[in-house]
Amino acid sequence: MSTPALDLLDVSKDFGRIIALRKVALRVELGEFVSILGRNGAGKTTLLNIISGISKPSSGKVELFGSDPSDTVNKSKLAVISHEMFLYGNLTAIENLEYYARIYKVPNMKERIESLLHSVELTHRRFDLVNTYSRGMTQRLTIARALLHEPQLLLLDEPFTGLDQHAIGMLTKLLLEQKRQGRTILLTTHDLHIASELSDRYVIIEKHQITHNGPMKDTSPEAIRKKYFSIDTEVATA
Ligand SMILES: Nc1ncnc2c1ncn2[C@@H]1O[C@H](COP(=O)(O)OP(=O)(O)OP(=O)(O)O)[C@@H](O)[C@H]1O
Ligand SMILES: [Mg+2]
Repeated sequence: MSTPALDLLDVSKDFGRIIALRKVALRVELGEFVSILGRNGAGKTTLLNIISGISKPSSGKVELFGSDPSDTVNKSKLAVISHEMFLYGNLTAIENLEYYARIYKVPNMKERIESLLHSVELTHRRFDLVNTYSRGMTQRLTIARALLHEPQLLLLDEPFTGLDQHAIGMLTKLLLEQKRQGRTILLTTHDLHIASELSDRYVIIEKHQITHNGPMKDTSPEAIRKKYFSIDTEVATA
């Protein structure tokens, strides 16, 4: 078997007495698109932070492309899109992207930046300071920044939150294109329809453990919602 993009073995994480993850095992093959589903506080963001190396597991093992997440070879292979924007408000969109392009030594920098700004539909605002952007525009620029260096693994923590319908369509198209190009993608979302449209596989985290891991093609958003997310709603409205 070839080396997977990601291999987690019995990963646990606690913050003092708060348990965030308990013995999570997950293997993601190269080119797979996996959606991570679960209620608020289930441990999804914690899991992505551990995969990206931002946070260390309390116990267990994580391998990215066969080595430790903190290994320098992994830095250029990874992109993270989360609520943290990693953008400078007092710089323009172009200046922000040029700054990151230099760090990652992106070839054909100017063309790459123009093309990404076009993809996220910000060409007309490229010379404006980022602190004059709306929330959705800032998020679109974050997406462009994350894709600059053509990362092999994308970790997306609720990237659709705050986007309008048009921008949701734009990001969906962009992610499908990334998938076509063979990138490996992990997405957390509370939108089961988006998860269903994009992913090959879905994983459910419940009470800090993976309770389900299966192919998306064998199910539907309604079936997932009924099976995993509606029990408490029924109790609450009873
Ligand atoms: N830095 C921290 N310190 C203490 N507890 C934390 C910390 N980060 C996360 N937690 C706790 O770990 C658990 C999992 O949180 P996490 O943010 O991973 O959930 P989530 O599945 O991403 O939820 P959401 O859907 O709301 O984004 C929660 O109980 C949370 O309070
Ligand atoms: Mg979260």
